[in-house]
Amino acid sequence: MAEKIVMSLGGSVISGNPVNIPYIEKFSRQVSKLEASGIGIVVGGGKIARDYILPLRKKGVTEFVLDMLGIEITRVNALLVASIMGIKGSSIPGDVETAAVMLERDGLAVMGGTEPGHTTDAVAMLLAERVSSRIMINISNVDGVYDRDPSKNKDAKLLERLDYDTAMKLSLVPKGGAGPNVFLDPVSITIARRSGIDVYVISGRDLTQLERILEGKTFHGSIISDH
Ligand code: UTP
Repeated sequence: MAEKIVMSLGGSVISGNPVNIPYIEKFSRQVSKLEASGIGIVVGGGKIARDYILPLRKKGVTEFVLDMLGIEITRVNALLVASIMGIKGSSIPGDVETAAVMLERDGLAVMGGTEPGHTTDAVAMLLAERVSSRIMINISNVDGVYDRDPSKNKDAKLLERLDYDTAMKLSLVPKGGAGPNVFLDPVSITIARRSGIDVYVISGRDLTQLERILEGKTFHGSIISDH
């Protein structure tokens, strides 16, 4: 039987001004061609979330409230994606268990964030763990994992394969807080490591890399795994 696949769809690739409807339609067409027994999509907050979070942080709003604000935006984005993917109604699962039941029943579940303290990547990893998916595909504006920050080092090298420990070291940033923009947060890597979930990190820019992964071809990006 075909397996289940979970994806984390970064808000940065779908939202912005204007909202990228053609992109979501193309994503939806690609996903519908997939021979999977179930698909889970967790949508991020992107620029809109950061546009709310950053100025409010300067006003002294607590990280908890900023996270809650981010979660609201991810849920708005999730409703956008769910609607374009043909899911009827306006109810977006608010927790991983509800999304997992929906995924197992309907073959498709679209959700956003759940609780403060992590990102939608961690939610996607928990959903992957809950439904026994062996892979999680992280689609964002980061095109892979680099050995150092590519925005600061022009010699930074893309790592095509890396283990969980290396990913953890590279993911730990000096200061966390709401609205971070790294390839994966440490919580996600901890969950991937404990359940041996292979994590694909690809850019969502034109969906070419997603298509290549789904067709079993070589792709530009990184795989985090211990084998
Ligand atoms: P994300 O950081 O997951 O969205 O959520 P993103 O930036 O679109 O994701 P990537 O990096 O491109 O994949 C936006 C913010 O919402 C809060 C966090 O503050 C997060 O940075 N959030 C999200 C939570 O607190 N809990 C969640 O479960 C999800």
